[in-house]
Amino acid sequence: MGTSYRFSGLKNRGFLISSAFSWDCMIGAVDIVDRDYPLISWVAPFYNKAPDCLWNWIREELNKLDSEPLKTIEKLEGMDSALGLKTLDAGLEDYYRLSPDQLDERITAAKTRLADRMLLLGHNYQRDEVYKFADYTGDSLRLSQYAAQRRDKEYIVFCGVKFMAETADILTQPEQKVILPDLAAGCSMADMADIDAVETAWQEITDVIPESTTTPITYINSAADLKAFCGERGGLVCTSTNAEKIIRWAFERREKILFFPDQHLGRNTCKRMGIPLNEMVLWDPAKPNGGNSSEAIRKAKVFLWQGFCSVHQMFQPQHVELFRKQYPGIKVIVHPECSMEVADRSDLIGSTEYIIRTVTAAPAGSRWAIGTELNLVNRLKRDNPDKEVYFLSPMVCMCSTMFRIDAPHLLWSLERLESGSIVNQIVVPEADRYWAKVALERMLQLA
Ligand code: 13P
Ligand code: SF4
Repeated sequence: MGTSYRFSGLKNRGFLISSAFSWDCMIGAVDIVDRDYPLISWVAPFYNKAPDCLWNWIREELNKLDSEPLKTIEKLEGMDSALGLKTLDAGLEDYYRLSPDQLDERITAAKTRLADRMLLLGHNYQRDEVYKFADYTGDSLRLSQYAAQRRDKEYIVFCGVKFMAETADILTQPEQKVILPDLAAGCSMADMADIDAVETAWQEITDVIPESTTTPITYINSAADLKAFCGERGGLVCTSTNAEKIIRWAFERREKILFFPDQHLGRNTCKRMGIPLNEMVLWDPAKPNGGNSSEAIRKAKVFLWQGFCSVHQMFQPQHVELFRKQYPGIKVIVHPECSMEVADRSDLIGSTEYIIRTVTAAPAGSRWAIGTELNLVNRLKRDNPDKEVYFLSPMVCMCSTMFRIDAPHLLWSLERLESGSIVNQIVVPEADRYWAKVALERMLQLA
């Protein structure tokens, strides 16, 4: 439950593993971070086994990555600066002693008492134990629209990840307060682009071509300072729902775009808009000029940041082929954060909201293989018993950061709110707020 571990001994590299285990539930989620693999996210089905079995499993998985065996596993106490994780907040232990029924009862009661002052938003990937309490559920676009509209609520409790809560804070009024029940709920993809690296890339690009030729576009899965960076330079934000509209808008004004942090959303969208692959270059922030020659920078229409989602990268083209072979007539629907090789083999591609809408509206008896986060797919399976719904990967792909928002954290933050102490408030620094809002509002006007 939010504890970090350091693993060492693999070719002298240090590994950081952050865990989102809930021993009472069926699944543990593990993020493994190291220098060479920016983030590997695994979710293992532990089925209520003891922690020893977990460590043995992790040891086996890590040893597959490396020829030298894993030597030590060290528990890190307190704050872990690399991941921004920390051990349980004070007072939370008591909430983990409550049964699921007790948690449900107390969340319902706290919600009722806070009803006039509080809005609870839940992203489509949230686990059911918190999703069922949301006043509104949806994708990143829909939730940012709700946050912007509901000026009547003093508190917005955001069951999602940090970039979503930051977006809500930017779009709400100064007197409204946004709360993220667990501050460790980040997004590994958002962490793949930071302001220093993006400023360096911008400098390198504009050393070769004039600044006025390129629009910076950030996927909403990014920190507030990156949204501000885009706003200040005539750029904007996009979500998986409106990426095409946003990119079209940008090309009506300037000839090139710098798209970050998700290469896959950028590539999949631009390809569908008819932009040839040879006009898109990958930007590796670890290399000078992103690994591109000046000639390549001059010729490119699209610069794609080398970021990706650790959950969606688990879906592979062979999974699509396997389903097509095993289940004739099956429709494959995936999120645009999947690789181009997966997207190209799929029938449909779209945001979490689009996936839910499409499968829900499909005729009874239809068959679906879905390439997005597991909580969403399991919910769709349960809510559509008249259809065959399958998860596209044989691995359990779950967003381990979304998973950190659980019933104990939700109840803890609600009861603290009631007692007048606001925990885990998300406040975007004043310096970023103005231009980040410009970038978001440009998007919302087009969305
Ligand atoms: P949606 O905007 O489609 O909900 O996606 C958000 C996200 O983080 C998907 O990984
Ligand atoms: Fe970030 Fe991927 Fe989780 Fe979405 S699914 S919040 S992109 S890590």
